[in-house]
Amino acid sequence: MNVSALERSLIDALYGGRLREALDDWLDKDGLTDRDRIRAQEISVGLARFDSALFKATEELRSDLTEVGPGVEVLLDRERLDGRLKVLVSRDNFGRTLDQLRLHGFVPMRTLGETADRAIRKAGLDINMIAPKGPLTSVSVTRRAQAPRIVSRMNPGMSDFQVSLPSWAWWAYWGVKPIRRVGRALGMLQRSAAAGPFLGTPEGMVSSLLELVGLSQDDLLIDIGCGDGRVLIEAVESFGCRGRGVEVDATLAALAKRKVSDAGLSRRVSIEHGDFAKARLDQADVVFAFLPVGHLGRIIEPVLNRMAPGARLVVHEQDEAHLNPEPDSSSLVVVDMGVTVAHTWTA
Ligand SMILES: C[S@@+](CC[C@H](N)C(=O)[O-])C[C@H]1O[C@@H](n2cnc3c(N)ncnc32)[C@H](O)[C@@H]1O
Repeated sequence: MNVSALERSLIDALYGGRLREALDDWLDKDGLTDRDRIRAQEISVGLARFDSALFKATEELRSDLTEVGPGVEVLLDRERLDGRLKVLVSRDNFGRTLDQLRLHGFVPMRTLGETADRAIRKAGLDINMIAPKGPLTSVSVTRRAQAPRIVSRMNPGMSDFQVSLPSWAWWAYWGVKPIRRVGRALGMLQRSAAAGPFLGTPEGMVSSLLELVGLSQDDLLIDIGCGDGRVLIEAVESFGCRGRGVEVDATLAALAKRKVSDAGLSRRVSIEHGDFAKARLDQADVVFAFLPVGHLGRIIEPVLNRMAPGARLVVHEQDEAHLNPEPDSSSLVVVDMGVTVAHTWTA
């Protein structure tokens, strides 16, 4: 694999939550080559800019959320560098906190109907929301003073909320979870094809990722699990290529289509609603994926096998993934709005 000792050690430091310290250690080293010094300085400058954008966005949100009322606490894990916030909130202020987050453009990670929204607000159930843009990626809202674990484990979650119920029957979600469990155990219900929820690639990162695989204007880029289509839109606007997205979530696929059309790119970008495991990839020059690390480990080989010889695959992730086959190259990508690790292969 084509990775320098500096890059490998910084990637491991990122996974271990100590990138800043590792960078300082490298920059203090005697006998560092010019190339490594420039690379370490470049990452250090990028990280400082990201840190400052993250701090500013967190403080703005904290100031608005604390106005909701007492008992709202905003926590940022500065070591993880993935822009995820945790908000702890009392049950009384749960609904108002969600309203405030919505005003800031945060949306639930999975599509929620009106009844599910009502159940979440009434009972103060944990909910994960995605940030609209900027260095914050997501926020998980959790009730302060949780019920004992044995009780809270009975609470419905995002998958249970995919069942639609009439508005008056919001309490019935507590029955959906056991029914789904029994249905799955008896083989009557299939697991969804979706590999994790939607989380967008941060703004401004797409170009850096696609430059690594030399995307050009004659290429077709396929985003497997395209979410709201942001990668395709940024890629087509920056590189002049064509794009195709495959998305398993019907609401997200419709949103991606709308965003592509609003950007005036419908002739260059198409969106398919479906499972990427069944999509044709042999026409792609570049395939892009941002999926949960647990799934990445399983999909690389089958995806490469379905691509044309010479086509390139680029994936990125912020946690260590067990990738098979080993990537041709791995590198840290640090932009103002985020930090990630990019891996590339040629089919
Ligand atoms: C982490 S998001 C990334 C979205 C987008 N590629 C980006 O980088 O902004 C992963 C997306 O993959 C979709 N997804 C997961 N499993 C899928 C599957 N089997 N087929 C198609 N889409 C899938 C999810 O619904 C989600 O929108």
